[in-house]
Amino acid sequence: MGCRTPKDGCSPQGQCGCCTVWVDGAPRVSCVTPVRRVAGRAVTTVDGLPADVRQAWVDAFVAAGASQCGFCTPGIVMRLAALANRPNRPPADEAAVRTALLAHLCRCTGWQTVVEAAGAVLGTDPGVGPGSVPGDEPAIPTAIPTATSPATSTATSTLGPARDPLLAAWRAQLEGPMFQSAGAGTVLGRAGFADDTAPPGAVVAVPDATGGLAVAGTLAEARRSSGKVQGRNSTVPLAHPVAPPPGDWVLSLQTTWVEPAYLEPDASWCVPGGRPASPLANGGAFGGKRRSPVPEAATALAGELGRPVRVLWSREDVVRRGPKRPPVAVGVRADGTGVLRVARSGSDDLEGLADRVARAAPGLAVELVDVPGPPTSADLRGAGWAEAAVVTAVLGALAGGHAGPGTPAEVTGPSGGRARVTVAEDGTVSAEVWAGEVLDPVTLRSYCVGAVHQALGWVRSEGIAVDPAGAVHDLTIRSFGILSARDTPHVDVTVHPSDRWPVNGSDAVFAATAAAAWLADGLPPAWPTRRGPAAGTGAAR
Ligand code: FES
Repeated sequence: MGCRTPKDGCSPQGQCGCCTVWVDGAPRVSCVTPVRRVAGRAVTTVDGLPADVRQAWVDAFVAAGASQCGFCTPGIVMRLAALANRPNRPPADEAAVRTALLAHLCRCTGWQTVVEAAGAVLGTDPGVGPGSVPGDEPAIPTAIPTATSPATSTATSTLGPARDPLLAAWRAQLEGPMFQSAGAGTVLGRAGFADDTAPPGAVVAVPDATGGLAVAGTLAEARRSSGKVQGRNSTVPLAHPVAPPPGDWVLSLQTTWVEPAYLEPDASWCVPGGRPASPLANGGAFGGKRRSPVPEAATALAGELGRPVRVLWSREDVVRRGPKRPPVAVGVRADGTGVLRVARSGSDDLEGLADRVARAAPGLAVELVDVPGPPTSADLRGAGWAEAAVVTAVLGALAGGHAGPGTPAEVTGPSGGRARVTVAEDGTVSAEVWAGEVLDPVTLRSYCVGAVHQALGWVRSEGIAVDPAGAVHDLTIRSFGILSARDTPHVDVTVHPSDRWPVNGSDAVFAATAAAAWLADGLPPAWPTRRGPAAGTGAAR
């Protein structure tokens, strides 16, 4: 029907929540709802909400910074807006909001800002209130903000005054690291995602089992002719394919393959002779999709067929074909010398990784170890650098005689952004960040909260199963181990403004959180620390 606000993040797995709509006022995941079941019933998308209700959610999401890429947002808004529709039920409290969010996944925001936005609309949190909403059109700033204000605390009352969309986009580009717009259009699913903007009548191309493309007039036909089989969760255990060499290490660590888990699958379209649409229209992949082959495929096929072509990956395609964070093994001595081994498999892009490791931990020798597995990339959020920064931060804490919950971990990022993070006994996370001129405090805070969430997942729960032959088995989006809204602790973020040039701050928060979480967990030798076998399975290679 050309309705583009419900998004397809995993269809037909029914697991990401991006396609949530109302059926007779109750939220339903549309990708697993057969059309026959909605015969004679009312289907409502975010476009069909009453204007005042829709505006209240837009205001709250913008004020809290609860959308980054925005791909997950329309589905989340539909879920949360339904909480106000429950007859004979008490008003939804924070616990009810977090429970409702269990039906959704978000890679970017880390949930807290979404919960705050819900509190503002549903009246469950008097401390949260919507601020001024910028228009969708970027405005030219009249002045760069001065850095004379005191530290920006976590209280959402500090999110006003009015946000400037250009400064928000500048801050997002430093953190993302891709262009990203904020505003009503992003909350309402109109951020210009590639598969939403394709011209009507474009043929659809999807990967087939032979490595080629199946082409048809509709997505359903293309997927049928490609032989697509829905991916399932596996019982294959997580593996740690590289191990540190024997040595007198005071600290050792093994990690596994981690899926970048961006919610918007790779997509592009092109007209003959034209420029292909970017699969990163509104960021959100944290280094993923930068070398996605879909724009090139759309360009070539449009030229060959002489008509507009959409190229679209399914969730299973993303898991099988997209690059992963490479597994590493680290052994380090108290003086910071040691070895960092990085798994190299198939079609990798690990260029520059050794230089980035050297910036965080000059005493670590980098070794690439060939193992069978999915492609890996050093583009993914601080890959290699962050692992080295974690080890350096933990050594610093140990040298000061500290370990365990509440131990602060400090990291300085490659661009000079700095963070200090602690993970308390009760799980609460406190993060301080220095990232130069703040530009837009809502955006910076949102990215820092999201970085905490990503780091906690990386240390404690994220990973995908890869068998000894290198085949990926965890093909469903729920199997990646992304922390749910209920499992994500409260995060306090304090931003320290300065008059220095604005730099990325959330990558430092990401690495410092990982170090602080690892310290809080007692430094077990393998990640993830709270899922499956805690020690390195398959580490003998
Ligand atoms: Fe939720 Fe990007 S804002 S996936």
